[in-house]
Amino acid sequence: MTSSPSSRLSGFYRLPPQQRRQLVSTWAQLDAAEQAALGGGLDLGTADQLIENVIGLYSLPLAIAPNFIINDREYLIPLVIEEPSVVAAMANAARLVRAGGGFRTGSTEPIMIGQIQLIDVPYPHAAAMRIRALQDELLAKLDHLHPTIRKLGGGPLELQVRPLLDTAAGPMLIVHLLMDTRDAMGANALNTACETLAPELEAISEGRALLRILSNLSDRRRAWASCRVPVSAFDSDEFSGEDVAAGIAAANAFAVADPYRATTHNKGIFNGIDAVALATGQDWRAIEAGAHAYAARNGRYQSLTDWHVEDDVLVGRLELPLAVGTVGGLTKLHPAARAALKILQHPDARTLSEIMAAAGLAQNLAALRALVSEGIQQGHMRLHARRLRTSSNSSSQL
Ligand code: MEV
Repeated sequence: MTSSPSSRLSGFYRLPPQQRRQLVSTWAQLDAAEQAALGGGLDLGTADQLIENVIGLYSLPLAIAPNFIINDREYLIPLVIEEPSVVAAMANAARLVRAGGGFRTGSTEPIMIGQIQLIDVPYPHAAAMRIRALQDELLAKLDHLHPTIRKLGGGPLELQVRPLLDTAAGPMLIVHLLMDTRDAMGANALNTACETLAPELEAISEGRALLRILSNLSDRRRAWASCRVPVSAFDSDEFSGEDVAAGIAAANAFAVADPYRATTHNKGIFNGIDAVALATGQDWRAIEAGAHAYAARNGRYQSLTDWHVEDDVLVGRLELPLAVGTVGGLTKLHPAARAALKILQHPDARTLSEIMAAAGLAQNLAALRALVSEGIQQGHMRLHARRLRTSSNSSSQL
């Protein structure tokens, strides 16, 4: 087991925000500046460097989901989200999963895909063969780019040629550049590489390069999380654990079979994933686009998870593309994102993607558990009532 302090913070929700912040700051050893960053983070000057036409700043709540164990390591998960119940639901799910030993996670190497679209190619098949034969020479043209990524063991890996012979604009050749971007999300690195390669590909194919841009379907860069929860952990006064676990498996089957349900099911998963993405300064639109395309990879939009019962254990698994970075971009510029990454114990990009997969699976478990038992609305209202009670208690202590 890990030597980091336990993330099982019972009664955390009862504390006022300042005390929660203090507790998390001690837990994660945040210094004064990092603690201050949790109060907002971005200043107007930095915001003005980030995007155009800035007129102000816009805040959202930053919360912590405690109780997570991922690969035997304790985690407090920072979440930025406006929707009530999500944080409490994740904390509860993580507590249930602790009973089964926590989440297990894994990921592929961080390989991104860039696309170069070649049009007006007179002999597409012959050009495809020439590009494949010249792969090594073409990749060597990128040797001067991205010294940091290369030093860390990443860099361009492979070219793949995909003729698209029957499009509305006629035949075209699509060249995929596969590149290991290490701890960078990699969009800039990949786009630069695609633009560098394009004139070479034009010369070889005798065509014209049009688009030169990464693909957000980063299906070579995936993360997964799984968990095993003893069925008895779902026992309550009103519901048998066996019924709840069987219900969760049936709910998952519904989301595999029906795109209307799959969309809502996956939305719940993104309540967890997007909240970590926002807290840690990731491009959540890229993550969403890639994962939804991946969910439709079999020709029909489906659930990203699997839940089934094995003996007396509910077994869950989530796998999806997750292109995230822990260097560069907002992770460098946004003080609250930096503090959030410190709370997560400075993960590299692969570890961050695995944490996000665990967060998504936890959120899905919580949603399905509520849906197959008391219903989402009752749980939501109970939480609301508890929150009102807690706030009147804490104000009476002042
Ligand atoms: C609400 O934000 C998310 C849920 O609808 C997810 C689901 O239905 O699985 C509760």
